[in-house]
Amino acid sequence: MSQGFTFSTIAESSYVLIGLLDTVKPMILVTGATGTIGSHLVPLLAESGADVRAMSRRQGFDFEDAESLKRAVDGVDTVFLLSAPGKTAEHDLALLEVAQHVRKVVKISAIHTGEPGFELTSSWHLPGEQALRSSDLMWTILRPTTFASNALAWLPQIQAGEPVPSYYGDGTNGVVDPRDIAAVAAKALLTDDHDNQTYTLTGPELLSTAQQVDILSEVLGKPLTTMDISPEQARTSMLAQGMSPDSVDFMLKGFEIVRNGGNAVVTDHVEHVLGRPPATFRNWAQDTLNTLTAKS
Ligand SMILES: NC(=O)c1ccc[n+]([C@@H]2O[C@H](COP(=O)([O-])OP(=O)(O)OC[C@H]3O[C@@H](n4cnc5c(N)ncnc54)[C@H](OP(=O)(O)O)[C@@H]3O)[C@@H](O)[C@H]2O)c1
Repeated sequence: MSQGFTFSTIAESSYVLIGLLDTVKPMILVTGATGTIGSHLVPLLAESGADVRAMSRRQGFDFEDAESLKRAVDGVDTVFLLSAPGKTAEHDLALLEVAQHVRKVVKISAIHTGEPGFELTSSWHLPGEQALRSSDLMWTILRPTTFASNALAWLPQIQAGEPVPSYYGDGTNGVVDPRDIAAVAAKALLTDDHDNQTYTLTGPELLSTAQQVDILSEVLGKPLTTMDISPEQARTSMLAQGMSPDSVDFMLKGFEIVRNGGNAVVTDHVEHVLGRPPATFRNWAQDTLNTLTAKS
């Protein structure tokens, strides 16, 4: 024992080392951290004890700034990748470019991405999906349908007592609660159970805009109506609001798909991951809109 080592001191130092390693938690980067899904996901991950780095422009990170992206992914083990509407593909690819050292990426995509007949509406998310699938990283791709929270766009009409614009005719969506998307993302980030899986995330039931508005009417306790907007009226209105012709074409294609029944899809993927049924639109409305009743 010339060095003064005994078996017990070596064993004790090993315990100390193991203890230290236990405290070094893998870092999860959450992009879109202040948005619809991210604002639910960050607290979920934090409650589970995960080490979270929140990324949005408000935190000083920008998809458009390569240096800030490198800072965002530095030391990161796992990434939640959510790129805002518009430059989605460009932002996904910019993040993946600097994230080749990470172990796993959980990407928010959209329902029907890559399916035949959905070429135009796939253009935002397909490049990011393809880049992930052809990379050496582990991945989970989440393809949500129409968010329940899109109904917040109707608040001005609801508050003014005007009809809610309806772009989908009688077409229906399997409206999904963004809190369920966040909960599924948390499972995919925190466990390896969903690696290399693609999930289509929907709520439990198909709803037309009129049916959603009827539910809001019941929750708010005031009569509400809808007004059908034709594709031509929608084009004129979106162009008048300053949207680019390409964005208008994209939106109109989405409306057409729903109008023709192309988004009448309900899956059991939320329940498969969470072990409970997805929230209903009524659940979301009760939880979200009660606070707004006074203003409406
Ligand atoms: N809404 C739906 O029905 C639906 C359906 C299917 C799929 N999706 C997909 O879901 C995703 C979320 O869409 P959302 O409309 O709900 O957006 P969101 O998550 O509410 O907002 C976008 C988030 O990204 C951040 N962000 C925006 N530009 C950024 C930039 N240049 N650099 C860094 N961060 C930036 C924003 O924060 P800062 O402003 O602070 O930067 C915010 O946290 C999109 O990819 C969309 O295609 C939506």
